[in-house]
Amino acid sequence: MKLVAPSILAANFNLLGNDIEMINLSEADFVHCDVMDGVFVPNISFGIPVIQAVNQISKKPLDVHLMIVNPEKYIEDFYRAGASIITVHYEVCQHLSRTVQQIKDLGIKASVCLNPHTPVSLLEEILPELDMVLLMSVNPGFGGQKFIENTIPKAETLKEMILRRNSPALIEVDGGVNFEVGKKLYDSGVDILVVGSFIFNSENPMDTISKLKSL
Ligand code: DX5
Ligand code: ZN
Repeated sequence: MKLVAPSILAANFNLLGNDIEMINLSEADFVHCDVMDGVFVPNISFGIPVIQAVNQISKKPLDVHLMIVNPEKYIEDFYRAGASIITVHYEVCQHLSRTVQQIKDLGIKASVCLNPHTPVSLLEEILPELDMVLLMSVNPGFGGQKFIENTIPKAETLKEMILRRNSPALIEVDGGVNFEVGKKLYDSGVDILVVGSFIFNSENPMDTISKLKSL
């Protein structure tokens, strides 16, 4: 699948509604919402009130990426705020299977994210339960960083695992994505591209999204 999830971390927060309307009118498939707590990652972004506000006007499902410690405490809050997909980080979940089940029991999609250093093999046992795996192609916390090339073979390995374990999981990649990287990612079996600065810093974001979809 060739899906695109614009990351609103790169949006204009003085005119966020305008950027959500652009996403609504574009060929984008999701709105990627980067929640950061300043503990798991060295940055603080936004939380429930912003997700609620985006949900009031978004016509695309909210893909909520929790870069926070103790995500299990907030799953229900983000569900009520409008999340359609909730991604938790492998690195902060003591009882990952329980947290994944907590998300699925709410009737929304459960996703696990791996930092660049975390091997996909750690997902072997839980893969059949997942709706999505998010691979970080930058160190989480900031937009506008350089793509980590090792993400390509990592995605290929994950794709093989998904097929072998007969998992329904989609693969999403997040960080430093542009046209050149996006094509390589789709060709390696990645389903969803998270793209922030490359979209929002471009001359024509809607056109950039269309071009990403047609790579
Ligand atoms: C970083 C975030 C990414 C980031 C992507 O921690 O998870 O979603 O916003 O932004 P770009 O596309 O600018 O690297
Ligand atoms: Zn993200």
